[in-house]
Amino acid sequence: MRIIQAKNYEDMSRKGADFIAAQVLLKPNCVLGLATGSTPVGAYQRLAEKYRSGDLSFAQVTSINLDEYVGLSPDNDQSYRYFMNENLFRHIDIDIARTFVPNGLEKNAEKACTDYDAILAAHGGIDLQLLGLGLNGHIGFNEPADHFPCGTNCVDLTPSTIEANSRFFPTYDSVPKQAYTMGVQAIMQAGCALMLVSGKAKAGIVRQAFTGAITPQVPASVLQLHKNFVLIADEDALSEMKL
Ligand code: F6R
Repeated sequence: MRIIQAKNYEDMSRKGADFIAAQVLLKPNCVLGLATGSTPVGAYQRLAEKYRSGDLSFAQVTSINLDEYVGLSPDNDQSYRYFMNENLFRHIDIDIARTFVPNGLEKNAEKACTDYDAILAAHGGIDLQLLGLGLNGHIGFNEPADHFPCGTNCVDLTPSTIEANSRFFPTYDSVPKQAYTMGVQAIMQAGCALMLVSGKAKAGIVRQAFTGAITPQVPASVLQLHKNFVLIADEDALSEMKL
């Protein structure tokens, strides 16, 4: 596990984008595992800038996102497909046909999950998986549980995650209560797992996840066992860690 300390959110975003850009330069036809949420937005903006300035092309990249809310269509502005289109894909030259997000409209959960695992397998897994960190230690939407879910799974979101997500929705009741999420196996098998974390609110869970016991009650703690895990976090997020 490697920790790269950033000064603040801007610095974390720049370092994160540089890291992802290096992956794309090294392997132009790489598979990027991508995340949504507020944390990666700055890094996505930097990547779009690199594309606009002619320094980077995503023309051969495939992307496979971590998760999607159950029941939301791609054109729902709260869906993760919509988020990715708006925050990254429409600003770069990625072939939209090679961007994958779980199908939130698939009502048959088993089919939705099997289909997504088949997409992962067909692409030979992920070269670089970008991750954020939930306040409760979730990665993707793999919530604290008594085991690490292996493959793509349908999750009942915990009250704390629903609460955290409600900032993007008009009312608490309109926040979806379930999501399809990539499982822990695909994340652990990624050539590199890159996590971005910012802010004091995450300092406690960062300490717990990366200096505490490896337990499915803190899903991100499993990354301590990843062969190539890089944490880029700002000073606030690292403020409870003894480096
Ligand atoms: C998003 C995802 C989640 C978020 C996490 C942190 O695709 O998988 O695990 O990364 O909830 O969210 P933010 O960045 O909004 O704090």
